[in-house]
Amino acid sequence: MKYRCVRCGRSIDALNGFTCGCGGTLEVVHEFPEASLEVFESRLSHRDGPFRSGVWRYKELIHPRIGVDSIVTRPEGNTNLYRRAGVSRYTGVECVQLKHEGENPTGSFKDRGMTVAVSEAVRSGARVVACASTGNTSASMAAYAAQACLKAVVFIPEGEISYGKLAQALAYGANVIQVKGNFDDAMRIVKEGSSELGFYVLNSLNPWRVEGQKSIVFELLQQRDWEPPDWIVVPAGNLGNTAAFGKALRELKQLGLVENAPRIASIQAEGASPFYRLWRGKLNHLEAVKPETVATAIKIGNPVSWMKALNTIRETDGVVEIVSDSEIMDAKAVVDASGVGCEPASAASVAGAKKLHEAGVIDRDEEVVCVLTGHLLKDPEATVSYHTGAMEALRPSFANPPRVVAADLRRIEEALS
Ligand code: F0G
Repeated sequence: MKYRCVRCGRSIDALNGFTCGCGGTLEVVHEFPEASLEVFESRLSHRDGPFRSGVWRYKELIHPRIGVDSIVTRPEGNTNLYRRAGVSRYTGVECVQLKHEGENPTGSFKDRGMTVAVSEAVRSGARVVACASTGNTSASMAAYAAQACLKAVVFIPEGEISYGKLAQALAYGANVIQVKGNFDDAMRIVKEGSSELGFYVLNSLNPWRVEGQKSIVFELLQQRDWEPPDWIVVPAGNLGNTAAFGKALRELKQLGLVENAPRIASIQAEGASPFYRLWRGKLNHLEAVKPETVATAIKIGNPVSWMKALNTIRETDGVVEIVSDSEIMDAKAVVDASGVGCEPASAASVAGAKKLHEAGVIDRDEEVVCVLTGHLLKDPEATVSYHTGAMEALRPSFANPPRVVAADLRRIEEALS
């Protein structure tokens, strides 16, 4: 097993730091042992042990060499794929499925990457793990570090992450440092801390995070009897998922396990869309922006995995799209009212599918999987603000405000009629 720099192509034997000398990010290069769909199918019946995890079920495609004893798992994954008529109507696409990554143990997709990267941290003897986060990475890292008895240090932008996520990092016992700045400032500190203070970095800069997140694609394909959809639509912030999805599809094709890869649509919030600008403007280099969006999870102006993500979009004939805060919150309200529910950033995928359909990019009869990245309860403040009209600037289309009624049955009857 080796690492490869996605920028200069250099091959590297061991992870000393998380970037190449040229500044490029690294990816894991596997020599795959025998991997077959039959093995992945047979593990669906496991009730115990690491293979019941929706990540480690695909161990041969993710971390073939690690010993089972080093694996730190909750387990994670095994998230549902939903179809809801209301979401199909809203997007205008008949077959939309929602892959709900908010059903992971700490409420977001991050657990898939974290189980792999924390296992690797344990295997390599790390003692202090660290991440910068808009909230979900810190919640996930704190939980897995607690399980593995590692010291955890999280750097979050002060006052910028939702309480659900902050509560998790505090409760799981991480050292929480609120940085006076945004996510990109926190990310810079973590990178510096990696070389100067010996932090083992658990952001998706760590290529093992990306390995774990490939399992979103493996699992959704398995749930569809290995029949790829036409599109996978994913919210995009730091671009770890977009990077992971492309690598997953490239490797599945290489191994002859799937023939036709779906196209990837990567969706950014309009106010935090450096990747969209790069792709749309056919630029050679990402230009960082000052991010602003109600979807705090993807409020990122300088995403670390842009180069890998660009490969994904190129290789899958994919697209990058932007959606406004209003479109995000309205799409979220529709997903929520369908009984499924998600956090604001997650709904960027559904808002993106709608926009791409209206633009004639996604056809009505194409099969689309929208990834919902986080749980509804991660950001209750945003949900309540939307429904109570506190987000007036967004002109909510589906507000469902609570009403104050006297404690009198007749008044309540009137109010309900
Ligand atoms: N959705 C949610 C709910 C997220 O928390 C994130 C990223 C994304 C989408 C974007 O995914 O970075 O792979 O493009 N959250 C990170 C964090 C940055 O710190 O929790 P990406």
